[in-house]
Amino acid sequence: MKTKRPTTQVYSNYTAQDFLVWKTLFNRQMEILSSIVSTEYLKALGIVKFTSDKIPDFAEVNKLLNPITGWGLEVVPNISPQKEFFEFLSQKKFTATCWLRSMEQLDYLEEPDMFHDVFAHVPLLSNDAYVGFFKGISDIALKYIDNPRAIELLGKIYWFTIEFGLINENNQLKIYGAGIISSKGETKCCLSNEVVHHLFDVQAIFNTDFRTDILQENYFIINSFEQLYNSLPEIEILLGKNLELVS
Ligand SMILES: [Fe+2]
Repeated sequence: MKTKRPTTQVYSNYTAQDFLVWKTLFNRQMEILSSIVSTEYLKALGIVKFTSDKIPDFAEVNKLLNPITGWGLEVVPNISPQKEFFEFLSQKKFTATCWLRSMEQLDYLEEPDMFHDVFAHVPLLSNDAYVGFFKGISDIALKYIDNPRAIELLGKIYWFTIEFGLINENNQLKIYGAGIISSKGETKCCLSNEVVHHLFDVQAIFNTDFRTDILQENYFIINSFEQLYNSLPEIEILLGKNLELVS
Protein backbone atom coordinates (compact mmCIF):
# COMPACT_ATOMS: atom_id res chain seq x y z
CA MET A 1 0.00 0.00 0.00
CA LYS A 2 1.25 3.46 -0.85
CA THR A 3 2.26 5.65 2.09
CA LYS A 4 0.24 8.84 2.34
CA ARG A 5 2.57 11.71 1.42
CA PRO A 6 2.19 15.49 1.83
CA THR A 7 0.32 17.37 -0.90
CA THR A 8 1.84 20.76 -0.04
CA GLN A 9 5.27 21.71 1.23
CA VAL A 10 5.04 22.93 4.83
CA TYR A 11 8.64 23.88 5.43
CA SER A 12 8.36 23.89 9.24
CA ASN A 13 7.38 20.19 9.12
CA TYR A 14 10.89 19.10 8.08
CA THR A 15 12.64 17.37 10.96
CA ALA A 16 16.31 17.35 12.00
CA GLN A 17 16.51 13.91 10.40
CA ASP A 18 15.18 15.29 7.09
CA PHE A 19 17.91 17.94 7.09
CA LEU A 20 20.51 15.29 7.89
CA VAL A 21 19.27 13.04 5.05
CA TRP A 22 19.39 15.94 2.57
CA LYS A 23 22.87 16.95 3.71
CA THR A 24 24.22 13.38 3.67
CA LEU A 25 22.84 12.62 0.19
CA PHE A 26 23.81 16.01 -1.23
CA ASN A 27 27.40 15.78 0.01
CA ARG A 28 27.80 12.16 -0.97
CA GLN A 29 26.47 12.66 -4.50
CA MET A 30 28.40 15.90 -5.07
CA GLU A 31 31.63 14.18 -4.11
CA ILE A 32 31.03 11.53 -6.79
CA LEU A 33 29.44 13.86 -9.34
CA SER A 34 31.61 16.98 -9.33
CA SER A 35 34.00 15.70 -12.03
CA ILE A 36 31.58 13.49 -14.00
CA VAL A 37 28.32 15.44 -14.14
CA SER A 38 27.50 17.81 -17.00
CA THR A 39 28.89 21.33 -16.52
CA GLU A 40 25.38 22.51 -17.51
CA TYR A 41 24.00 20.73 -14.41
CA LEU A 42 26.67 22.24 -12.14
CA LYS A 43 25.92 25.69 -13.54
CA ALA A 44 22.19 25.07 -13.04
CA LEU A 45 22.73 23.92 -9.44
CA GLY A 46 24.19 27.37 -8.77
CA ILE A 47 21.23 29.07 -10.46
CA VAL A 48 18.69 27.31 -8.22
CA LYS A 49 21.01 27.86 -5.22
CA PHE A 50 20.86 24.31 -3.85
CA THR A 51 23.23 23.65 -0.94
CA SER A 52 23.79 20.78 1.47
CA ASP A 53 22.57 22.84 4.43
CA LYS A 54 19.12 23.69 3.19
CA ILE A 55 16.28 21.51 1.96
CA PRO A 56 15.01 23.46 -1.07
CA ASP A 57 11.97 25.63 -0.42
CA PHE A 58 9.64 25.18 -3.43
CA ALA A 59 8.34 28.76 -3.26
CA GLU A 60 11.89 30.11 -3.41
CA VAL A 61 12.83 27.72 -6.23
CA ASN A 62 9.78 28.84 -8.24
CA LYS A 63 10.76 32.48 -7.77
CA LEU A 64 14.22 31.73 -9.16
CA LEU A 65 13.12 29.51 -12.05
CA ASN A 66 10.09 31.41 -13.25
CA PRO A 67 11.81 34.52 -14.62
CA ILE A 68 14.45 32.36 -16.37
CA THR A 69 12.43 29.69 -18.22
CA GLY A 70 8.86 30.13 -17.00
CA TRP A 71 9.00 26.72 -15.29
CA GLY A 72 8.00 25.90 -11.71
CA LEU A 73 7.25 23.05 -9.33
CA GLU A 74 3.91 21.45 -8.56
CA VAL A 75 3.81 19.35 -5.40
CA VAL A 76 2.38 15.84 -5.81
CA PRO A 77 2.04 13.25 -3.02
CA ASN A 78 3.36 10.34 -5.09
CA ILE A 79 4.55 9.74 -8.62
CA SER A 80 1.89 11.18 -10.95
CA PRO A 81 -0.30 9.19 -13.32
CA GLN A 82 1.01 9.64 -16.89
CA LYS A 83 -1.75 11.94 -18.13
CA GLU A 84 -1.45 14.29 -15.15
CA PHE A 85 2.35 14.22 -15.39
CA PHE A 86 2.38 15.24 -19.06
CA GLU A 87 -0.41 17.80 -18.56
CA PHE A 88 1.59 19.58 -15.86
CA LEU A 89 4.79 19.43 -17.92
CA SER A 90 2.95 20.88 -20.87
CA GLN A 91 2.06 23.84 -18.60
CA LYS A 92 5.76 24.12 -17.66
CA LYS A 93 5.15 22.62 -14.23
CA PHE A 94 7.33 19.82 -13.01
CA THR A 95 5.55 17.52 -10.55
CA ALA A 96 7.71 16.85 -7.52
CA THR A 97 7.31 15.16 -4.16
CA CYS A 98 8.31 17.14 -1.06
CA TRP A 99 9.11 14.33 1.41
CA LEU A 100 12.49 12.75 2.07
CA ARG A 101 13.56 9.16 2.57
CA SER A 102 14.84 8.06 6.00
CA MET A 103 18.49 7.50 6.94
CA GLU A 104 17.85 3.74 6.68
CA GLN A 105 16.73 4.16 3.04
CA LEU A 106 19.67 6.21 1.73
CA ASP A 107 20.49 3.77 -1.06
CA TYR A 108 17.21 2.26 -2.09
CA LEU A 109 13.70 3.56 -2.45
CA GLU A 110 10.72 2.06 -4.26
CA GLU A 111 9.25 5.42 -5.25
CA PRO A 112 10.99 8.74 -5.95
CA ASP A 113 11.34 11.19 -3.05
CA MET A 114 12.37 14.84 -3.27
CA PHE A 115 16.06 14.03 -3.38
CA HIS A 116 15.45 12.46 -6.77
CA ASP A 117 12.69 14.82 -7.93
CA VAL A 118 14.33 18.04 -6.74
CA PHE A 119 18.10 17.56 -6.48
CA ALA A 120 18.31 15.56 -9.70
CA HIS A 121 15.55 17.03 -11.90
CA VAL A 122 15.05 20.64 -10.92
CA PRO A 123 18.37 22.43 -11.65
CA LEU A 124 18.17 21.79 -15.40
CA LEU A 125 14.68 23.32 -15.49
CA SER A 126 16.68 26.56 -15.71
CA ASN A 127 18.15 25.51 -19.09
CA ASP A 128 16.18 26.75 -22.12
CA ALA A 129 17.02 23.98 -24.59
CA TYR A 130 16.48 21.27 -21.96
CA VAL A 131 13.03 22.54 -20.96
CA GLY A 132 12.14 23.12 -24.61
CA PHE A 133 12.75 19.42 -25.20
CA PHE A 134 10.91 18.45 -22.00
CA LYS A 135 7.83 20.45 -22.98
CA GLY A 136 8.02 19.24 -26.57
CA ILE A 137 7.98 15.58 -25.50
CA SER A 138 5.03 16.28 -23.21
CA ASP A 139 3.09 18.03 -25.97
CA ILE A 140 3.60 15.03 -28.26
CA ALA A 141 2.62 12.65 -25.42
CA LEU A 142 -0.62 14.54 -24.81
CA LYS A 143 -1.57 14.16 -28.49
CA TYR A 144 -1.18 10.38 -28.09
CA ILE A 145 -2.25 10.00 -24.47
CA ASP A 146 -4.90 7.37 -25.28
CA ASN A 147 -2.49 5.28 -27.38
CA PRO A 148 -0.55 2.93 -25.06
CA ARG A 149 2.03 2.00 -27.73
CA ALA A 150 2.84 5.66 -28.44
CA ILE A 151 3.18 6.39 -24.72
CA GLU A 152 5.44 3.35 -24.34
CA LEU A 153 7.72 4.63 -27.14
CA LEU A 154 7.77 8.19 -25.78
CA GLY A 155 8.45 6.71 -22.34
CA LYS A 156 11.63 5.21 -23.80
CA ILE A 157 12.73 8.63 -25.08
CA TYR A 158 12.05 10.08 -21.63
CA TRP A 159 13.88 7.23 -19.91
CA PHE A 160 17.04 7.34 -22.05
CA THR A 161 17.32 11.14 -21.97
CA ILE A 162 15.74 12.93 -18.99
CA GLU A 163 16.32 10.00 -16.60
CA PHE A 164 19.43 8.21 -17.86
CA GLY A 165 21.01 10.48 -20.47
CA LEU A 166 24.74 11.04 -20.97
CA ILE A 167 26.29 14.01 -22.76
CA ASN A 168 29.58 14.43 -24.63
CA GLU A 169 31.37 17.55 -23.37
CA ASN A 170 34.75 18.25 -25.02
CA ASN A 171 35.19 14.52 -25.71
CA GLN A 172 34.42 13.63 -22.13
CA LEU A 173 31.39 11.59 -21.24
CA LYS A 174 29.29 13.34 -18.59
CA ILE A 175 26.00 12.68 -16.83
CA TYR A 176 22.80 14.71 -17.12
CA GLY A 177 20.06 12.10 -16.48
CA ALA A 178 18.21 12.55 -13.18
CA GLY A 179 17.99 8.82 -12.51
CA ILE A 180 21.79 8.74 -12.49
CA ILE A 181 22.34 12.02 -10.63
CA SER A 182 20.39 10.90 -7.56
CA SER A 183 21.76 7.33 -7.44
CA LYS A 184 25.10 6.29 -5.99
CA GLY A 185 25.02 2.95 -7.84
CA GLU A 186 24.14 4.51 -11.21
CA THR A 187 26.78 7.25 -10.97
CA LYS A 188 29.41 4.58 -10.41
CA CYS A 189 28.45 2.24 -13.25
CA CYS A 190 27.06 4.43 -16.08
CA LEU A 191 30.46 5.55 -17.41
CA SER A 192 32.16 2.15 -16.99
CA ASN A 193 33.04 -0.38 -19.68
CA GLU A 194 30.49 -2.80 -18.28
CA VAL A 195 27.60 -0.93 -19.91
CA VAL A 196 26.80 -0.16 -23.55
CA HIS A 197 27.08 3.45 -24.76
CA HIS A 198 25.15 4.39 -27.90
CA LEU A 199 25.04 7.69 -29.77
CA PHE A 200 21.64 9.37 -29.47
CA ASP A 201 19.40 7.87 -32.14
CA VAL A 202 15.62 8.10 -31.96
CA GLN A 203 14.85 4.82 -33.72
CA ALA A 204 17.52 2.97 -31.71
CA ILE A 205 15.89 4.26 -28.52
CA PHE A 206 12.46 3.09 -29.74
CA ASN A 207 14.06 -0.35 -30.30
CA THR A 208 15.71 -0.55 -26.85
CA ASP A 209 13.94 -2.01 -23.84
CA PHE A 210 14.79 -1.13 -20.27
CA ARG A 211 14.06 -2.31 -16.77
CA THR A 212 13.33 -0.01 -13.88
CA ASP A 213 14.47 -2.39 -11.15
CA ILE A 214 18.14 -2.89 -12.07
CA LEU A 215 21.16 -0.73 -12.91
CA GLN A 216 20.89 0.28 -16.55
CA GLU A 217 22.74 -1.62 -19.29
CA ASN A 218 22.25 0.86 -22.17
CA TYR A 219 22.90 4.60 -22.24
CA PHE A 220 22.46 7.12 -25.07
CA ILE A 221 24.86 10.03 -25.56
CA ILE A 222 23.86 13.48 -26.80
CA ASN A 223 26.21 16.28 -27.85
CA SER A 224 24.08 19.11 -26.49
CA PHE A 225 20.62 19.93 -25.18
CA GLU A 226 20.05 21.79 -28.46
CA GLN A 227 20.47 18.43 -30.23
CA LEU A 228 17.69 17.03 -28.03
CA TYR A 229 15.45 20.00 -28.72
CA ASN A 230 16.12 19.80 -32.46
CA SER A 231 15.23 16.09 -32.47
CA LEU A 232 11.57 16.76 -31.58
CA PRO A 233 10.29 16.83 -35.20
CA GLU A 234 12.14 13.58 -35.92
CA ILE A 235 10.69 11.99 -32.77
CA GLU A 236 7.18 12.88 -33.91
CA ILE A 237 7.74 11.61 -37.48
CA LEU A 238 9.36 8.34 -36.38
CA LEU A 239 6.70 7.83 -33.73
CA GLY A 240 4.04 8.05 -36.44
CA LYS A 241 5.95 5.56 -38.64
CA ASN A 242 6.41 3.10 -35.77
CA LEU A 243 2.72 3.28 -34.97
CA GLU A 244 1.80 2.67 -38.63
CA LEU A 245 3.99 -0.43 -38.63
CA VAL A 246 1.91 -2.11 -35.95
CA SER A 247 -1.53 -0.90 -37.07
FE1 LIG B 1 12.70 11.11 -12.34
